[in-house]
Amino acid sequence: MIRLIEDLTEDRTAALLLQGYAWLPDARRRAGDGEAVRTRLLGRPAVALHGPGAVRFFYDESHVRRTGALPGPVLDTLFGRGAVHTLDGAEHRARKALFVARLTDPAAVASLVEHAGAAWRTAFAAPARREAVLFDEAALVLARAVRDWAGLPYDDTQVRGLARDCVAMVDGFATPGPRHLRARRARARQEEFLADAVGKARATVMSAEDTPFGAVVRHRGADGAPLDLHTAAVELLNIARPAIAVAWFVAFAGHALHRWPGTRERLREDGSGAYATAFAHEVRRFYPFVPFVGGLAARDLEWHGERIPEGALVLLDVYGQNHDPALWPGPYRFDPERFLSRPPDPDVLIPQGGGDVRTGHRCPGEDITVAVLAALSGALARQEWTVPPQDLRIPLRRVPTAPRSGFRIALRPV
Ligand code: HEM
Repeated sequence: MIRLIEDLTEDRTAALLLQGYAWLPDARRRAGDGEAVRTRLLGRPAVALHGPGAVRFFYDESHVRRTGALPGPVLDTLFGRGAVHTLDGAEHRARKALFVARLTDPAAVASLVEHAGAAWRTAFAAPARREAVLFDEAALVLARAVRDWAGLPYDDTQVRGLARDCVAMVDGFATPGPRHLRARRARARQEEFLADAVGKARATVMSAEDTPFGAVVRHRGADGAPLDLHTAAVELLNIARPAIAVAWFVAFAGHALHRWPGTRERLREDGSGAYATAFAHEVRRFYPFVPFVGGLAARDLEWHGERIPEGALVLLDVYGQNHDPALWPGPYRFDPERFLSRPPDPDVLIPQGGGDVRTGHRCPGEDITVAVLAALSGALARQEWTVPPQDLRIPLRRVPTAPRSGFRIALRPV
């Protein structure tokens, strides 16, 4: 049943900003762990769902639409205006095919993993290097890897700007104030750079190159027309930005290796890569990154006998589901073993959304994320480093969050 959690005339946007990841799970606890909770957010009635059945319900396109669902401040920082995230129906499918074809092909995934491994080795090769902030290092490694893999036209100086700006876009999307302004400026800068690059590529032979960049340059939508320069830039950033955002998970992987040293031993001995993959899944489940995803009720709906009016905000509680004791025995225990005997159920493990990757809005970068995270976690486990005193707290009020120090490592035993 759906429980009322608070006075429905009161908008809870401020509570969300204040409580961060704890907001929905907390609301759910107060509601008595029912099937869903009702609240108000962004001036609309909202209902938050969780559980595998809710995942199937939420990702049914006849139930939840995306057009008009994402607030302007999120589009102007995280995703970009006109992004694939905001489309429905035939238009969404045509645009989504561009991502799915390029990002889920096993050879393409393996190639990006190779680029990431090479960039990682270069970054840590300098013998005089004594210290690194893992989060910053990973963002730069991933920016270089995605540039080389996707054929993005950044030189070695510009790629540092790409790393910085993509981190800023993710860091500032959910918070008003200076972080948000930084995110807006970062997006404007990168959209301008990439729109210009797409325009130049269309005028030259470069557009024929078989890279993700070339594919976006040449892509034609459901109406048969090429993407306008701005939309092409937005979608290129929808490849580069989340690939760089895997840095959040790499920093969490470092945290896990430090906190549970047994996992470091297991990763070092992991010949087949099976443990590294299980470790990557557990990092994605255990650590907080995406709090929830949302859309608008496409029509009057019913969920477990309760009415959800057309136009209401429908939220899927990602963080809550990934820590639900009904789905995960000992949800606050970091335990890669839970993924060793069988692969995750795609409706249960949803750190990157649920449903079908081709027809719905599930993240097309999931295979890439798991493969790159597994490879870099293995590389990190095999390196020699120690953890100097620092602030390793991961504040749940901050969205997105990370170890406060960025996870600083000393590269020689201290
Ligand atoms: C850092 C790890 C990542 C996380 C936590 C993540 C999370 C997500 C989530 C929650 C969604 C939205 C699901 C929904 O709206 O229902 C999504 C969509 C998307 N992701 Fe990822 N993602 C990650 C990595 C990647 C990577 C590496 C790429 C590409 C290289 C990527 C590209 C996309 C795209 C293009 C969409 C839009 C899909 C659509 O609307 O149909 N993501 N991701």
